[in-house]
Amino acid sequence: MSRQNKIGILFGQENTFPQAFVDRVNEKQSLFKAEFVHIDQVEQSVPTNYAVIIDRISQDVPFYKAYLKNAALTGTAVINNPFWWSADEKFFNNALAVQLGVPVPKTILLPSKERPDDTNHNSFRNLGPMNWDAIFRHIGFPAFMKPHAGGGWKSVYKVDNAEQLFRSYDETGQLVMLYQEAIDFTDYVRCYCIGGKDVLIMPYEPRNPHHLRYASELKVTGDAGQKLLATIKDYVLKLNHGLGYDFNTVEFAVRDGIPIAIDFCNPAPDADVHSVGQANFDWVVEAAANMAIERANRASQGKDNLTWGTFVRNSAQAMMGLAATPAPETKPAKGTESGELVKEPKAEKVPEVKKDVKADKKDDKSKKTKK
Ligand SMILES: Nc1ncnc2c1ncn2[C@@H]1O[C@H](COP(=O)(O)OP(=O)(O)O)[C@@H](O)[C@H]1O
Ligand SMILES: [Mg+2]
Repeated sequence: MSRQNKIGILFGQENTFPQAFVDRVNEKQSLFKAEFVHIDQVEQSVPTNYAVIIDRISQDVPFYKAYLKNAALTGTAVINNPFWWSADEKFFNNALAVQLGVPVPKTILLPSKERPDDTNHNSFRNLGPMNWDAIFRHIGFPAFMKPHAGGGWKSVYKVDNAEQLFRSYDETGQLVMLYQEAIDFTDYVRCYCIGGKDVLIMPYEPRNPHHLRYASELKVTGDAGQKLLATIKDYVLKLNHGLGYDFNTVEFAVRDGIPIAIDFCNPAPDADVHSVGQANFDWVVEAAANMAIERANRASQGKDNLTWGTFVRNSAQAMMGLAATPAPETKPAKGTESGELVKEPKAEKVPEVKKDVKADKKDDKSKKTKK
């Protein structure tokens, strides 16, 4: 077997993060050489010589996804886990958030407006008509409609009434959509979460033009601000532990002091210096380099070195009759449909928050999520 003694990064059109990541890993140590992943022949069950690969692009390149699964099977710690990334989507993740006690907007899954290719009405004999009155009563207006497996703000609609909803739905083709209560927020944040432990909370104003979105500060200050940051960090970790993502961003809209998770399925999040700004960029390069080095040191040659979330681990343990990890809380948190109270987060070190970060020119469309 080839020795898995390199750290690689696999990427697409982005231009700033990959080189900075490689340089930082090589500055910090010399045991594992960092480089841009190089692929030529891909053969089943033949390992790569990467201990770790950071995947920034397989959501757009199915060939890479298959390459990464083969690499993972033969010992490479692929970040993020390509099996999980192929399996989850925003609706499932919202449902898991409810079970983890993290508030999310009330959300309904809508079937695609058009039938998928090669199906006809017989393919849908199990599906009854939508009860729109009930849906509108439950979700209310304004509402957001967005793809259940989307990213980069594509096909995201805000609607104020039924007519707008139907008009927008008509444009969505074969996309399976979420229909979701709009959260009227006072603060909005986007958070990097690296290695299931490092969290950076970035105040973010989605209503600003692209180049000013990160040039924002939290409106809530003092004790309430500190408490909010601690709660956000707790929720970020809960979500990423549940999902098993090592590199992700989580967005929250804050309503009545409660952070409500809006978008937390971003396994190749925007990390371009021109959109996140220099300070956030430096933080994410450093955290990703530390994580990759740690994972390379920890990896066992030829073994499964992937991260699996508590959802998968609990299922596997239950199957084996072990039930070693306590089951996740099943009560929905305040802010979700049943309005239960959120458990107070443990008082702990307040996470880092970047204030007054200068945003740069480029917009955020390089942010990638899956599929
Ligand atoms: N339920 C919601 N309430 C308030 N704002 C929302 C909601 N859903 C989406 N948005 C707004 O739309 C933007 C894009 O939606 P998001 O879920 O992040 O999709 P994407 O994965 O395409 O980034 C968010 O950054 C937020 O500003
Ligand atoms: Mg988003």
